[in-house]
Amino acid sequence: MIVNGPCKLQGEIEISTSKNAILPILVAGILSDEPIKLYRVPAISDVFIIQEIIAALGMASERKDDTLFFSGRLNSFSPPFELVRQMRASFLLMGPILARCGEVRISLPGGCAIGNRPIDLHLKGLAALGAEIELEAGNIVARSKRLQGRHIYLDYPSVGATENLMMAAAVAEGVSHIENAALEPEIVDLASFINKMGGRIFGAGTNVIRVEGVEKLHGAEYTPIPDRIEAGTYMTAIAASGGEGLIRNVIPEHVKAVSAKLIESGARVSEGAREIHIARRRNIRPLYIKTLPYPGFPTDMQAQMMAYLSRGSGTSIISESVFENRFMHVQELQRMGADIRTEGRTAVIRGVKHLSPATVRASDLRAGAALVIAGLTGNGETVIQESEHIDRGYENMVEKMYALGADIRRE
Ligand code: UD1
Repeated sequence: MIVNGPCKLQGEIEISTSKNAILPILVAGILSDEPIKLYRVPAISDVFIIQEIIAALGMASERKDDTLFFSGRLNSFSPPFELVRQMRASFLLMGPILARCGEVRISLPGGCAIGNRPIDLHLKGLAALGAEIELEAGNIVARSKRLQGRHIYLDYPSVGATENLMMAAAVAEGVSHIENAALEPEIVDLASFINKMGGRIFGAGTNVIRVEGVEKLHGAEYTPIPDRIEAGTYMTAIAASGGEGLIRNVIPEHVKAVSAKLIESGARVSEGAREIHIARRRNIRPLYIKTLPYPGFPTDMQAQMMAYLSRGSGTSIISESVFENRFMHVQELQRMGADIRTEGRTAVIRGVKHLSPATVRASDLRAGAALVIAGLTGNGETVIQESEHIDRGYENMVEKMYALGADIRRE
């Protein structure tokens, strides 16, 4: 991806459906034998991978424009290794496959290279529901005749573990309570989808979720929520470029933490019912940011915000509390002249006047987005290698940035 800066972004864009909502929703579809119809499904590579996995498990899927239909019955309890290792979210399959087939065999997950991301909470929760879990030649194997509703306490409000357990408990026998559950909007969306299939989930979006297991889930149609991280990325890009724009199809409540920080840095943000207008004319004031589970500042916006603050008028501090090793973008921003020092999970960013274009590498999805933002403010051509990471989670980023006036292309 080649970004020729500097350019002031200006105009309107429409946000796509949330990657982190559609992935678990696609997976939850396997809980039913009846047809599922999902609207506004984004054309991003993570969705294509999950579709392939679901097809390999025996379900038929068909895409017409942005509507996805799928139906059928699982005929395998072992998703293919080559697909699973490509994304961490594939581990979400464990709960639903186990619940449907009484057994699941899955290799340890892959995904973004952002440090050690264990799955102990998923496994502890499934064991609490009655699964017997073993490690066999690099695969995790879990077995259970019918999962039993139980009380589960999560040591940490993990998004993936909450989703996995909610799906498994939805068709378990009896009532489960997931305590210290994650509060993310994607959890609420998944619960709404399962309830549309006839599930009985209460309290999603609070830290205790009650799941009344049902015998069977039926087919459903659903439109998942817009992507709050994509919205936050474009808001930050517009602010970084000193431009002005309207972001459509966003739920302002979901991006409150990002809006608050952009306002604190000197941008103007105004919210409509499902849109946000953003502009920045003043200097970028330095910020202190700590990433936290929702409703705190999202870790998935940390890299983009760091690119923004690299050109701030003072010293900013970012503390990454969610992931262990999520500063891979720092080295690339430094290559462009950013003045950033890290110590453990803290980064100190001293604003510089200009970023200089360079050839850089997108180590993961959000790092890639950060480099696009940095490239927009640089003086000349920034070449982003391995930009396919960006396609994992941003639908048509080149087209959307181009529509906002960016000089950006793919080669
Ligand atoms: C999800 C999102 C990801 C986002 C993250 C945090 C999807 C597909 N991905 O990832 O974009 O960055 O939430 O908002 O929705 N942990 C454990 N043990 C576990 C599970 C997690 O220690 O069993 C730790 C992780 O290593 C990490 C932290 O908990 O340090 C948060 O992880 P989690 O909330 O589970 O994130 P994901 O579901 O993987």
